[in-house]
Amino acid sequence: MKKTNELYAGKAKTVYATDDQDRLIMYFRNDTSAFDGEKVEKLDRKGMVNNYFNAFIMQKLQAAGVPTHFETTLSDQESVVKRLEMIPVECVMRNIASGSIVRRLGVQDGMELKPPTFEFFLKNDALHDPMVNDYHIESFKWATRDEVARMKELTFKVNDILKQLFLDAGMLLVDFKLEFGRFQGEIYLGDEFSPDGCRLWDAQTRKKLDKDRFRQGLGGVVEAYEEVAQRLGVRLPA
Ligand code: TMP
Ligand code: ASP
Repeated sequence: MKKTNELYAGKAKTVYATDDQDRLIMYFRNDTSAFDGEKVEKLDRKGMVNNYFNAFIMQKLQAAGVPTHFETTLSDQESVVKRLEMIPVECVMRNIASGSIVRRLGVQDGMELKPPTFEFFLKNDALHDPMVNDYHIESFKWATRDEVARMKELTFKVNDILKQLFLDAGMLLVDFKLEFGRFQGEIYLGDEFSPDGCRLWDAQTRKKLDKDRFRQGLGGVVEAYEEVAQRLGVRLPA
């Protein structure tokens, strides 16, 4: 498969078309962004760590019956994926309150959410990703009612699989964000799963092991991502 033209440059990844119209190449850059792109830095090794981390998680999800766009890694910072028609919403699942829900609802950071809670956000940096609900998604035709139901079902399934996977490695999956798209009439998980798009805390000490280290200027960002990878058994080049 050959890379052709650049299709889209996001905040952390660049997406290329290929000579196969159903396949794309995702290039994981070292760029790290927060606050809708207001804070951006290049962090050595981050692209590589996230590429291999994402591949590991996507394969676990696939094996557990979640359809994902992931096909194979191509190099340290590139993976081949199915070309989805993306749905412009972010699906957020929270097991523990942290981040925006704490600010919005004035609840205690670290509070366990039973049952876990689910939120939709519109993917739109200029509007700062506003929260939307099922009715908005249907009325504005971002997705159908069935697709909304399927995205929720898959997000809960991903939570069941990953919560346990991280717990077995001594980590709490606090929350995470997923994006879905359409491929041949079915809903597939797209984008990426990495410490850039979730919160992970050490189960004992609650030390932050995710992008909050970057957002909050705590340092040791890529070191934390590598620790997560190592605990899960993700193989990384030295
Ligand atoms: P939040 O607490 O800022 O709403 O974020 C919830 C989770 O979703 C957190 O793990 C970070 C992730 N997330 C993204 O990856 N990208 C985004 O644009 C947003 C808003 C959240
Ligand atoms: N990914 C978003 C950004 O870059 C939001 C975040 O993760 O904080 O700005």
